[in-house]
Amino acid sequence: MTTVVGEPIDRVEAPAKVMGVAVYAAEFVLRDLAYAAVCVSEIPRGRIAAIDVTAAEQAPGVIAVITHENAARLPYHQRAKRPVVDPQDGERLHVLQGPEILFAGQPVAIVIAETQEQADQGAALIDINYAQEPAITALRAAQSHPPSEHNEEAGRGGEVTQGDPDAALAAAPVRVSITCSHAREHHAAMEPHATIAHWDGDCLTLYDKTQWVDNVRAELAHVFGIAEKQVRVISPFVGGAFGSALRAWPHVTLAALAARHVGRPVLLELTRRQTFSSIGFRPYTEQNVELGADRAGRLAGVIHTARAQTSMYEEYAEVTLAPTRSLYHCANIRTHYELVSLNTNTPCPMRGPGTATGLLALEMAMDELAEKVGLDPVELRIRNQSMRDQARDLPWSSNELAACYRTGSERFGWNRRRSQPRMIHDGNWLIGYGMATAYYPSHRSKARAQVSLFANGTALVRSAASDMGPGTYTAMTQLAADALQLPTEAVHFELGDTAMPEAPVHGGSITLASVGNAVVAACRAVQDKLKGLDPTGRIPLTEVLQRSGFECLDVEASAAPGVETETYASAAFGSVFAEVRVDPDFGITRVPRVVGVYDVGRVINPKVARSQIVGGMVGGIGMALLEHAEWDERLGKVMNANLAEYLVPVNADVEDLDVQFVPSEDRIFNPLGSKGLAEIAICGVAPAIANAVYNATGKRVRHLPILPEKLLH
Ligand code: MOS
Repeated sequence: MTTVVGEPIDRVEAPAKVMGVAVYAAEFVLRDLAYAAVCVSEIPRGRIAAIDVTAAEQAPGVIAVITHENAARLPYHQRAKRPVVDPQDGERLHVLQGPEILFAGQPVAIVIAETQEQADQGAALIDINYAQEPAITALRAAQSHPPSEHNEEAGRGGEVTQGDPDAALAAAPVRVSITCSHAREHHAAMEPHATIAHWDGDCLTLYDKTQWVDNVRAELAHVFGIAEKQVRVISPFVGGAFGSALRAWPHVTLAALAARHVGRPVLLELTRRQTFSSIGFRPYTEQNVELGADRAGRLAGVIHTARAQTSMYEEYAEVTLAPTRSLYHCANIRTHYELVSLNTNTPCPMRGPGTATGLLALEMAMDELAEKVGLDPVELRIRNQSMRDQARDLPWSSNELAACYRTGSERFGWNRRRSQPRMIHDGNWLIGYGMATAYYPSHRSKARAQVSLFANGTALVRSAASDMGPGTYTAMTQLAADALQLPTEAVHFELGDTAMPEAPVHGGSITLASVGNAVVAACRAVQDKLKGLDPTGRIPLTEVLQRSGFECLDVEASAAPGVETETYASAAFGSVFAEVRVDPDFGITRVPRVVGVYDVGRVINPKVARSQIVGGMVGGIGMALLEHAEWDERLGKVMNANLAEYLVPVNADVEDLDVQFVPSEDRIFNPLGSKGLAEIAICGVAPAIANAVYNATGKRVRHLPILPEKLLH
């Protein structure tokens, strides 16, 4: 029997996507569908003094206009336990429940019409009088506060100290202290967020762009005060998300509110501009890293602080400082995290949330330490590698980071690097090399899957998972095909429907290790059931089924983490090497080459895995050189809220990306042996580029992105 797991097969859903057959949230065809347009606040703080909707109501095609004055009051019940992807404190935005304005871009009215154009036209005719109040929009001027107890419990606490970092730093012969920041970044996915809401009596069906159908179901049930079984969420395809579709955003509630108000199904699609204020973003964060080391470069003390923005109504916190406590061996560490509440919408996870940005600061500081000690940056990291997760004092379930450094150095040609900056030229271009460590903790959650094996030799496998692009459809098909001894063409995998067996969030790189093991468990359960009919175990499963006279066998099973989570720490590791070319006259930075070598455990599909990492590397180039919200402190608004001015890397910005996986299989972490490879793809890329820019130019640009003007002075 040949196996397909580990083979670089094409994405099973690719033809559907390429031919436009794949149906995204806004594309579902419903009878009697009405269209919604959202009208948002122009001020960052205050109240609606008066709102005049007369002209909007009389506009052609307009069915209804809903404001806080006529919207149904919603119960907004608390959830017993907040999902880990949600802010752990504060209260979600209550839409159209009162006149209060907490940020610019807050929904203040919704217009429902026969066509999208009529709805947009109606929204433009709404006249609002605001009573504006002074807003807090500048991070540097605002008071910061420690995260709440709930964030502490979720591992995003304020201060953690181990040993005596102050004394260790004071005594250290070599010290480095850096201050850095990264910009507020937006997900800028191809598919804007969209929801179609449809009520049938008291039952609500939502076609939504989401990474977690079960979460949207639970949230909407609580918001409307109905039972979860009265809500069904359908989301077969997601056109990119990176964390922006983990939670149910206010516009999902708006769509359901509007549909109930007009008694028709309603489509609400955010405009591109609205995606900058109606969903979350990667919060602007300032960091400070102090490293103390002995003359051999061994870390003696580390103090890492971060200050990040959140909103006025919710406390969103990140694990920014966690890598610093786990990655490098050091007995004396303090991490300190603070939040600043601003009049803006609530931030949310964006690929490698916290981890990628915490690593950014740590890895830039490590580069400077290597220089001060006079040690090669790779050697410095090897010398400080932690053989245990020192934060939890547990051994790693697997760790091939040393192999990543070795292979990465070789493939990149790291030995050609000159430690002195500005030593390599190509005509007018300055050439620089830089590297950084990549790291992302591996987690898994309980998941269920159902297998229907048919006597005709095909199988249908289902789980309420999601596929925002990493290849869930393909990997699950491969796993089921092998476990059922069927060709991949005979296996059909379905996801994205709350009617399917429950799956955890499609985030935090957990899908493969969670849903994948459930799929295999369900296939094994099929084998077990058929064993009685074929004790030899040699007859193909579908043939056993045929002989038994059954048309179909349905089996459901689940998989969950066990005691290994208490005895081991698990993580994916990698090393990232970047070459840059900087034009010193124009300050332009190009990235001709990135080499990334990763330990992600077992790779189910090398082609899809490579493409997943390539996507993250592109995001890393964006973080390093391009992506930033232009935040106007006077208005409390993102001024470049469009894809013409919010720059992401395009083909011309991306050259040679080399992705390698070192041999690795983590059977302690989970039976499949895969560790997850989504978030790690962006980790380490931006600091490798920043370090390369220093090597090229002798300038340490600490505030990302590294825009041309920052290299000119
Ligand atoms: Mo990922 S930021 O958990 O979608």
